[in-house]
Amino acid sequence: MFRVKIPATSANLGPGFDCLGLALQLYNSIIVEPSRPFEISLTGSYRDGIPADESNLVWRTMCHFWKLIHYPIPSVALTFENNIPPSRGLGSSSAAIVGGLVAANTLAGSPYSKYELLQVANALEGHPDNVTPALYGGVTLSIPTEGGMLPRILSQKPNFKAVVVIPNTLLNTTKARGILPPDVSRKDAVFNISHAGLLIEAFIREEYSLLKEGMRDLLHQNQRAALIPGMLETLEAAFQAGAYGAALSGSGPTLIALITETSKKEVSQSMITTLGQYEVNAQAIVLGIDSCGATSSIT
Ligand code: HSE
Repeated sequence: MFRVKIPATSANLGPGFDCLGLALQLYNSIIVEPSRPFEISLTGSYRDGIPADESNLVWRTMCHFWKLIHYPIPSVALTFENNIPPSRGLGSSSAAIVGGLVAANTLAGSPYSKYELLQVANALEGHPDNVTPALYGGVTLSIPTEGGMLPRILSQKPNFKAVVVIPNTLLNTTKARGILPPDVSRKDAVFNISHAGLLIEAFIREEYSLLKEGMRDLLHQNQRAALIPGMLETLEAAFQAGAYGAALSGSGPTLIALITETSKKEVSQSMITTLGQYEVNAQAIVLGIDSCGATSSIT
């Protein structure tokens, strides 16, 4: 019996649309019991709507991997502990796909490296800004190259925490991408390239005072603000309360602020209060940054 633990992730971090992301110390687990009749059991805070049969995304991902490597599909019992809220911009589908791949790879004797698993995960999920930090931990940059998705770890153990403000409404990624215009102006592209560069410098040099400017974006956040009442005001409230920087998490509706331990109360309260003024109910949690990515261990 073994357990695969997969972190939640926050993608984009402002200007790093589809390429920057970080892993959070909030986890889903998959407990795999080999040589047992097929069965899926669900535990944890988020079970509603998750199928416990062969249509389950984790199971389908496992079968996909075994077919890919020509490994006979074994009979297993799976228990999921789901603590990552789905459809909130915290990488729950990446966690399912990365978790399924790591579990299937472990069961087959680990024929694939992490880099090879990333290529499969990216082909299935399509959001490297979530799957790379889910596999590697830390703050990551994903670069599409002719040879595949190149992962770079900008900071394995950054010296900040995250306030994650999770509205109690769901937002589907397809819808949140659908409202983005297909083309961007050269001016906005230059703005985002320069700000993403600054953000990368902030992470590598651990100069977090650069995050406030570095996390500014013109490619998706203003456009998505229409779907999340009070979003821009809440990001501003986070800055005012002392956050290093703040952004929409992935495609939302969760908002993330990067903070010092000492500012966690002020930042959490000001973000919740501001969202409340727009009649959005949300919960704030303070999380450390995960530095390992998905792990598999014998239980
Ligand atoms: N980069 C993606 C988006 C994140 O913003 O649409 C998907 O979680």
